[in-house]
Amino acid sequence: MKANRIVYGIASCLIFGGLVFSMSHVDTLNASPMASKTEMMTLGKKVYDEYCVTCHQKNGEGTPGVYPPLAKSDFLKKDRKGNIRNLLFGLEGEITVNGKKFNGVMPKVPEKYGDKDIAAVLTYVYNSFGNRGPVVSEKEVATLRAEGPPKAASSSGSKRKKK
Ligand code: HEC
Repeated sequence: MKANRIVYGIASCLIFGGLVFSMSHVDTLNASPMASKTEMMTLGKKVYDEYCVTCHQKNGEGTPGVYPPLAKSDFLKKDRKGNIRNLLFGLEGEITVNGKKFNGVMPKVPEKYGDKDIAAVLTYVYNSFGNRGPVVSEKEVATLRAEGPPKAASSSGSKRKKK
């Protein structure tokens, strides 16, 4: 009787401990492939406030005639892959955002920001400043990065580079 109980106690301890261990293990090592929206929003805000804010401003309104708005931008809604590519590889040439023309140069996001940072900042922009949009995954960004800049890929159909 007593021995049975002890054995049972030890066994359940082991099982429970194993569960806790494996869960915490998954949490720490495997967090990135399936990052939650909350996690992406937090990271995205950090990247935005550190980098994008310089041009697009704290409230995403941009600067008239110079930096286009992200807030309620119709351009932003059009082409998800295009948006990712523009961050990865830069964007220049005339574009129209909410009926206003811009013809500036957005440099590509600096190398220190990885695929996850870019996915996160776009997720943040998609879901801030009055916008509502999807969560962008790190994998999506990695795939487009691997494909390289769009100009060689003739039929990408999104943004034609002028010149
Ligand atoms: C150095 C200034 C600068 C920085 C920093 C910058 N952008 Fe831009 N961004 C621009 C300019 C200029 C354009 C318009 C380019 C053109 O006219 O073709 C633009 C265009 C865009 C567009 C498409 C137009 C629109 O308003 O919807 C998006 C989306 C965008 N930027 C997001 C971002 C995000 C996100 C970041 C941070 C990761 C960022 N930008 C950082 C200058 C900047």
